[in-house]
Amino acid sequence: MSGIGTVLVTGGAGFIGSAVIRHLVGDVGVRVINVDALTYAASPSSLAEVDASPLYSFKHADIRNREALADILERHRPDAIMHLAAESHVDRSIDGPDDFISTNITGTYTLLEAARGYWSGLGAGDRSRFRFHHISTDEVFGSLATGDPAFTEETPYAPRSPYAASKAASDHLVRAWHETWDLPVVLSNCSNNYGPNQFPEKLIPLMIIKGLAGEPFPVYGSGENVRDWLHVEDHARALWQILTRGRTGESYNVGGGSELRNIDVVTGICRLLDEFAPAADGASHLERIEFVTDRPGHDFRYAIDCAKLENELGWSPRESFESGLRRTVAWYIENRDWWQAILETRYAGGRLGTRG
Ligand code: NAD
Ligand code: DAU
Repeated sequence: MSGIGTVLVTGGAGFIGSAVIRHLVGDVGVRVINVDALTYAASPSSLAEVDASPLYSFKHADIRNREALADILERHRPDAIMHLAAESHVDRSIDGPDDFISTNITGTYTLLEAARGYWSGLGAGDRSRFRFHHISTDEVFGSLATGDPAFTEETPYAPRSPYAASKAASDHLVRAWHETWDLPVVLSNCSNNYGPNQFPEKLIPLMIIKGLAGEPFPVYGSGENVRDWLHVEDHARALWQILTRGRTGESYNVGGGSELRNIDVVTGICRLLDEFAPAADGASHLERIEFVTDRPGHDFRYAIDCAKLENELGWSPRESFESGLRRTVAWYIENRDWWQAILETRYAGGRLGTRG
């Protein structure tokens, strides 16, 4: 038993945060306080199934607001913090890094200080049980070439985009708070997630929505870049295992063991759309794939070795990429209202991150 009954989740109205909260409230049965500033990336409707639960509460607050954080911590007295709030989109970090530096670095620093203040005031038992779980990305390790060994927890940091650099900085801050003040932290670095409720700026939902709108599929560069895909529900399960059973001060890599070239992902989406939503003229969606100008500094390949997580904590992904992608395409077809609201008010699907 972890003894963790109440978890403060930051960024819970986002893609992964909402999946984590659905898992914690719906499957695990712990109390959750969701702290989210509701930026452009937030979709509170992703939490509809837990909204009415007595286990769930929402606090509209920014992680850069130390007083608000201190107040929430004192009032709700969580046993753990799962920190997911961040600016998360690489292309936007190229268009404008300010919010990435501010939220991902200063925001994490502010949260660490609020957490340290709260934790140091706890009684001995509560203090030793407390965990600060920082949720990070494999992008901190940089870019691999074909044939390079996958990232392990020992791989040196070599971030290359403003987003990746800001997440690397936040990882270093979290480790520093552990080394300096003994704050009981645990970290995880995960590969590309996909699944329901993902904001349609990211590759998979963007391509599905482009396909349903009859628009071209913009593939950056040659489409040879490789990502390692993990279904978001598998990530949510991994995070709970890491929070409750991971060793303090350690980091754990999380990945799906599903390395694919972008062009193969997009081809797979086209084939599923041909099956689920055939074009009126009978043409295959494959005919609308277009190779467009590459992302500046585009990392070539990410690959994750998650043997530590599998061996120490017994986690492994349940969803294959093939069935997960099928479910995801079906979800976007069945949940048009969810993404139409975004297209109409916050992001219409245009190209981002081209360096002007
Ligand atoms: P997302 O962009 O979908 O959601 C981010 C959430 O954080 C939003 O609800 C937003 O309102 C909130 N937020 C942003 N700035 C905030 C602030 N200053 N104060 C409070 N809340 C704020 O992100 P995501 O894809 O769900 O990613 C969640 C976390 O997981 C991030 O830390 C990201 O770096 C990490 N991660 C993401 C992936 C991925 O594939 N998406 C993979 C590995 C790690
Ligand atoms: O690896 C983990 C990271 O994965 C997370 O930390 C980030 O938060 C998350 O956004 C994701 O970063 P990527 O840059 O890999 O994801 P994105 O969906 O933006 O792009 C995936 C790949 O697809 C990448 O090689 C760029 C390419 N791409 C993307 C878009 C949006 C295209 O070819 N066309 C597109 O229109």
